[in-house]
Amino acid sequence: MVAARITVNGKETPISPAAPHTTVLDFLRERGLTGTKEGCAEGECGACSVLVARPGVHRPTDWVAVNACLVPVAALDGQEVVTSEGLATADASGTPAVLHPVQEEMAVRGGSQCGYCTPGFICSMASEYYRPDRCAHAGPADGSDGSGDSDGSEHGPNGFDLHALSGNLCRCTGYRPIRDAAFAVGMPAEDDPLARRREQSAPPPVATRYTQDDSAFLRPGSLADAVRLLRERPEAVVVAGSTDWGVEVNIRSRRAGCVVAVDRLPELRTLHTGSDHIEIGAAQTLTEIERRLDGAVPLLAELFPQFASRLIRNSATLGGNLGTGSPIGDSPPVLLALEATLVLADADGEREVPLSDYFTGYRQSVRRPGELIRAVRVPLPLSPVTAFHKIAKRRFDDISSVAVAFALDIEDGTVRKARIGLGGVAATPVRALATEAALEGRPWTAQTAEAAARVLRTEGTPMDDHRASAGYRSAMLGQSLLKLYARTTEAVSS
Ligand code: FES
Ligand code: FES
Repeated sequence: MVAARITVNGKETPISPAAPHTTVLDFLRERGLTGTKEGCAEGECGACSVLVARPGVHRPTDWVAVNACLVPVAALDGQEVVTSEGLATADASGTPAVLHPVQEEMAVRGGSQCGYCTPGFICSMASEYYRPDRCAHAGPADGSDGSGDSDGSEHGPNGFDLHALSGNLCRCTGYRPIRDAAFAVGMPAEDDPLARRREQSAPPPVATRYTQDDSAFLRPGSLADAVRLLRERPEAVVVAGSTDWGVEVNIRSRRAGCVVAVDRLPELRTLHTGSDHIEIGAAQTLTEIERRLDGAVPLLAELFPQFASRLIRNSATLGGNLGTGSPIGDSPPVLLALEATLVLADADGEREVPLSDYFTGYRQSVRRPGELIRAVRVPLPLSPVTAFHKIAKRRFDDISSVAVAFALDIEDGTVRKARIGLGGVAATPVRALATEAALEGRPWTAQTAEAAARVLRTEGTPMDDHRASAGYRSAMLGQSLLKLYARTTEAVSS
């Protein structure tokens, strides 16, 4: 097996002697690339953002911005990374001589004061700059305000989606000059090396066995190898985008004897639509799902912009969000409302489990040791009336206090079917079964909605914590059904 290595700004670099838990951030900084900064070390500030060449959605390669503080460098064995230093064009002496267009715009529009956050903003901006389907004039007609499109996104006149920066925080500049810079960048020039790089294939995944002392980072090459490995090492920590495990490593100083990466397994990277369901590979990132489905599942399309930040969605997977079993994960309420099932795989084969039967207790599930979530299946046809309401302190990049997802079939003014998924009101994500029963077979009227909202307020066992009180959570449940009713009746009367 070839020694683990990573290409940084065009230069191949051995990963050894870094420990298997060493993050990309620490690896880069220890090699002098100190433009990549540590702010929070838990994926919330974006100061550590770097670009990684990944298989593209619309072209062979996408330049994807990720949080370097969360990803183990061993996970990028054989991959290509570009940092803020690598974006500027070097002169013959190696000194960066020509700023990259996003760096230039940030400089001339006053997008940087202390500069601590700036390299991270630059990398997130560069990722959006190179997004292949970004097109000019997709934004507001006046070309300036970016105050919000009808789908909730915020595009500039150059097609720049401001949500690309939702994972980057700045403490001192204020965001307007940064937004001005984002909305001022043009399209990549024909001879731009990173734009041209998109036309060639991304580096393929490399089967990795990286060990130091008594710890190992392993990337099996196939599902069969992965489940065999997990049978041998049931204590192994399974990671995909590392957006959860990276926080454990950095903030809680957790270490694992063996980490097994599953995010590039081809069997977990499927996405296809059959006659009666859509199957989404568990290791597709949320950004990939969002772009590949392109609104085909409206409830998922409503979820994605509210799920953490673009930086996190570029790495996080549905399999990871379900695998951690968190009661406040954002995807379970939505997938419960969609009546999704999970395909679980181990060395003995596969089984399909309804998501409603999957969670068994706080961060516990029916998934057995050695079993992987291979895919999520969403049955078809989809219910036409859907909504996802995430109640949190911030509009983006926050953890929900309560989350509610609705999927209703309303025919001739009567609720034929109701599926409601809840997060943040019990030890596990739950279906609101009593409320569903209070809706089904009844006319979709204000009286029905009000009666069902009273039932919804009693669902689950919400508690008081630092995010919200139990009373607030209950109140929000009821309000969310009334909000859905108001929205559907507004749509009918307008
Ligand atoms: Fe804050 Fe990585 S250091 S997101
Ligand atoms: Fe100082 Fe952003 S320029 S934190």
